[in-house]
Order: sequence, then C-alpha cells, then structure tokens
Amino acid sequence: MIRFKNVTKKFGDITALSNVSFEVDKGEFVFITGPSGAGKTTALKLILREILPDEGKIIFDGMDVCEASQKEIPGIRRKIGVVFQDFKVLSERTLRENVEVALAVAGIPQTEWTPRVDKILELVGLLKRAELFPSQLSGGELERVSLARALVVNPKLILADEPTGNLDWDTADEIMELFEKINKEGKTIIMATHNREIIAKLKKRVIKLSEGKIVGNHEHSS
Ligand SMILES: Nc1ncnc2c1ncn2[C@@H]1O[C@H](COP(=O)(O)OP(=O)(O)OP(=O)(O)O)[C@@H](O)[C@H]1O
Ligand SMILES: [Mg+2]
Repeated sequence: MIRFKNVTKKFGDITALSNVSFEVDKGEFVFITGPSGAGKTTALKLILREILPDEGKIIFDGMDVCEASQKEIPGIRRKIGVVFQDFKVLSERTLRENVEVALAVAGIPQTEWTPRVDKILELVGLLKRAELFPSQLSGGELERVSLARALVVNPKLILADEPTGNLDWDTADEIMELFEKINKEGKTIIMATHNREIIAKLKKRVIKLSEGKIVGNHEHSS
C-alpha cells in the first residue's frame, strides 16, 4: 500500500531522511520509531505530500505521490486519516460538530453526516458526549475525538504521529486498544512514536530510524 524507494529529504544542511526504503502492506500496523529528530514526522509528511523528497519515490495506493499534480493532491489526502499531536479541536464547536468538519471538508453530503458521526463516536466510545464542548473533555477523550475525525471519512490509511504523547499510561493504553480495533477492522496504520512501552506491548513490525537512516525493520521480538 505504501512504498518508500530510496527517499532522501534535506532541509538546508540537515538531512532529515537519507536513502530510506521500506514497504507497508495493506492491513498492516507498523511503528516508526527512533530518537527525536530521526525523521519520523518527515516520513509522514512526505506520504501526505505536505513536502516533496529531494530524491526517491513514494508510492501510495498504486500512485507516485511525488508526481501528483496539485489537482490530484486532495484525492490522495482523502484516502488518509491523520492523527497528529498538534491537532486543533475547535473549542466553540461540540464534538459532533468537530467531527462533521472532516465530512464537510471531504465534500460528503450533509444528509449523511448524522448517521456517520454517530457510528464513529460510538466506535471511539464518545457517543454519549457528542453534544459536549472540548473544554468538557479529558486529554484521552480529546485524542479519541481526533481519531474519530480521522476515521469518519473512511480512509484507507491512518497516519498517527505520537498520538499518546501527552497521555498517562492507562489512557495511552486505551487509545492503543482503539487503534488495534481499527486495525483489526482492516485499516492500515502507520504510527510514529518513541514510546517503548507501547511498542513492546503491541508487538507489531517496527521500523527504526536514526539520524534519517533506517537502522532496523523487523517484526517485534521480545
Ligand atoms: N521544515 C523544516 N525545516 C528545517 N528543518 C526541518 C524541518 N522539518 C524537520 N526538520 C529537521 O529534520 C529532522 C527530522 O525532523 P522530524 O520532525 O522528522 O523528526 P522526528 O523523528 O519526528 O522527531 P520527534 O520525535 O522530535 O518528533 C530534524 O533535525 C528537524 O530539525
Ligand atoms: Mg516528530
């Protein structure tokens, strides 16, 4: 589903990714790990076509995203649900409205919104809180709103960047169970994290980066 082929990305003097190649198959759940500055977020941004590589190819869903025209970029992004740490909830809007925004952006007809939002809020365990505002929620609940927003457009791929970064262990664990459930339902997930406990617990394939290079790519072994 995703293939990086000899990808190099530089920012001025800094080489964020250096000749990186890996593949992620449909239905897989893969971690990208490595120290701060290793290039994890850069890899995710390349998939989203937020940035272009200096060298190499990135194939997603049979298409070279680096070759995509401006017109094709929204189509690529519609296939990807994004759970980034700095996600912005709209504080003046209810949870329901926050999730509806994703449907509006994706151009889904308004008549479909209520059943789709209900289904997703149920999945992330927030249906009872649909009419509350973000300030009335806990950190873990907010993270689940972010996941609901990513899932509601039914993407093929979920990209998550340190989704449990600010959460205590129990809450992080709950969020990870949710990601596992979503993966079991068939979604491909690529998650950047340096949380070793989470990686150890989930036992998925781990792609390890260090200073922009792949230094490990194997199934979890404990
Ligand atoms: N827009 C940018 N301009 C200049 N340098 C950048 C830019 N984005 C990333 N970098 C640099 O590229 C390197 C990789 O950054 P990246 O954000 O991918 O790391 P990361 O592995 O996600 O780290 P963290 O765990 O801290 O989130 C870093 O040295 C960073 O300073
Ligand atoms: Mg990062």
